[in-house]
Amino acid sequence: MSNRYAVILAAGQGTRMKSKLYKVLHPVCGKPMVQHVVDQVSSLGFEDKVAIVGFGAEVVQQQLGNDVSYVVQEEQLGTGHAVMQAASILEGKEGTTVVLCGDTPLLTAETIDHLLTCHDKEKAKATILTAHAEDPTGYGRVIRNKDGLVERIVEHKDATEDERSVKEINTGTYCFDNAALFEALKKVGNDNVQGEYYLPDVIEILQKSGETISAYQTPSFNETLGVNDRVALAEAETIMKRRINEHWMRQGVTIVDPNNTYISTESSIGQDTILYPGTVIQGATVIGENCTIGPNSELKDSTIGNDTTIRQSVVHDSEVGNNVAIGPFAHIRPDSTISDDVRIGNFVEIKKAVMGPGSKASHLSYIGDAEVGKDVNFSCGAVTVNYDGKNKFKTVIEDGAFIGCNANLIAPVTVGKGALVAAGSTITDDVPGEALSIARARQMNKPDYLKKQ
Ligand code: UD1
Ligand code: MG
Repeated sequence: MSNRYAVILAAGQGTRMKSKLYKVLHPVCGKPMVQHVVDQVSSLGFEDKVAIVGFGAEVVQQQLGNDVSYVVQEEQLGTGHAVMQAASILEGKEGTTVVLCGDTPLLTAETIDHLLTCHDKEKAKATILTAHAEDPTGYGRVIRNKDGLVERIVEHKDATEDERSVKEINTGTYCFDNAALFEALKKVGNDNVQGEYYLPDVIEILQKSGETISAYQTPSFNETLGVNDRVALAEAETIMKRRINEHWMRQGVTIVDPNNTYISTESSIGQDTILYPGTVIQGATVIGENCTIGPNSELKDSTIGNDTTIRQSVVHDSEVGNNVAIGPFAHIRPDSTISDDVRIGNFVEIKKAVMGPGSKASHLSYIGDAEVGKDVNFSCGAVTVNYDGKNKFKTVIEDGAFIGCNANLIAPVTVGKGALVAAGSTITDDVPGEALSIARARQMNKPDYLKKQ
């Protein structure tokens, strides 16, 4: 196998998106389009990956990191001009170069691999990934001669009525003999409707000089969708969502309503877990087996154990153990650890806190900056008072303690092992283990007080 290189075009502004965010950074299923492309390419282990950046170069570089080399295209003069910028890295190298667009997020490594196989087999100088489009509007059309061989590609805007009726489109992904590509690029001009240097013109240049041009038509047009506007963005989202959901259903996950369940590409879900409608699983979230998630729950960058239920709740950047019940209407904020057998009920917010095994906060509590031991009970309305307007302070609650209703634990403070804090108390000093602590005004009854008014 010869050396393989990839060039990813990501310099365009994406005018048709009408957005302040650069086109290739628009997310599909939570991940920027260009990252989808790079991830697929990376799985094929190429020698070198070069991203052409321009508009929003810094942000795109920030997104893609060191996995990729970068070349800046100062002025966006067209896709041919864009690839030309990679000459500083690739020109003169022997091997095969795959060119991809940063706006085709659905393309899979498998299809790129098929394209490469076809290219090698046909010993071609260029192989185009084409697809059959029911509605080819906007795409470049693949023009073949009467023997069915590819002659050239014509852009929609430059095409005649006849050419526009062709339904075989250029997906914007190609394989080239690296040396032939950079030689041909020197001959590309900009005499066309858009006044741009078109990369597809390389095909006609190579064909005319007698080189073998090949085309691999993928059976899946869906995979090659180029996102130029928000309508196509939503379409890409729908297709990617379906692809991800079908994958997990085949792995043994029940998704009650796949149209209304959103799972990121970086997440994983265990067997026999059920996802109810309105579930949104984002970032790198790992869910164990036999869990019930949703309806209407949002999980992000979190780890969930087995046999856990999360209903109508939000969990971000946290760890949740086995056999935990969360919700309805709970909010687990970042850096929380919810241990096995914990119960978190309605209107409970947990932030940067550890809930030890078997502990409960069943209703209306705030537990922030706290270390809660095992089998602790937070009664209705009990809260940790962690913030004085300037600094945050820690609350420690040891194993088996019972915090009564509406208690305020003013941090920094420690409630000892097995202690009982009476309902309505405002605790400002440490409570020793096994103690009963009451910190509230005594009740006074004035008999017949109202009768005397
Ligand atoms: C391009 C193809 C078209 C194909 C379609 C598939 C050309 C001339 N046309 O059209 O045949 O059917 O993709 O989706 O190539 N870019 C740069 N620098 C530039 C111009 C573009 O980096 O100077 C990047 C864009 O950021 C984008 C990609 O190249 O990621 C494709 O550009 P775009 O403007 O989307 O081309 P299309 O009109 O979609
Ligand atoms: Mg495009």
